[in-house]
Amino acid sequence: MKQIAIFASGTGSNAEAIIEYFKGNSSIQVALVVTNNPEAGVIKIAHRNKIISAIVSKSALNDPEILGRVLATLNIDIIVLAGFLQLIPGYLLQRYPNKIINLHPALLPKHGGKGMYGMKVHEAVLANGDVETGITIHYVNERYDEGEVILQKTTDITLGDTSETIAQKVQKLEHEWFPKTIEKLLL
Ligand code: GAR
Repeated sequence: MKQIAIFASGTGSNAEAIIEYFKGNSSIQVALVVTNNPEAGVIKIAHRNKIISAIVSKSALNDPEILGRVLATLNIDIIVLAGFLQLIPGYLLQRYPNKIINLHPALLPKHGGKGMYGMKVHEAVLANGDVETGITIHYVNERYDEGEVILQKTTDITLGDTSETIAQKVQKLEHEWFPKTIEKLLL
């Protein structure tokens, strides 16, 4: 059985889409949800689905003897960042080469980097007058929103679009393509 760990800081709609997608799968399962935010919606989603969740402080995240040990004990094969706002520590990058992936709600390298998160990204897309936006799924390295691109999907921006309507279009792409991409990487 391949084991997924989802790292998320917020609402957790992508975490939920991933959990739903792999429900009943005989070879892949979500084994762990990790968050840095005790208020994160993703904790309830994990509980509802009987998935172990861990709330980690910054120091626990950065400690190979704490989070590193949990991931090793659960035999995690892939770490999936679904709206996770902390930088991934070096020991995890070393232990999981090409096994940590991130989802970004824009077409990187546009509109990425520290602080580019959630609605801020869609507002930047609108302010920039872009005619299209989309999602990027990429390998994680030591910098925010960099690392080799695995998949991009685009959606048009049309007259009358607001940051909210852009967010909805992007979220639809995320929920469709993130779980499929994880599956492809694990098969
Ligand atoms: C998603 O849109 C994801 O692309 C974004 O956070 C959101 C999490 O939403 N990630 C980033 O902006 C990373 N820089 P969710 O909690 O509903 O899954």
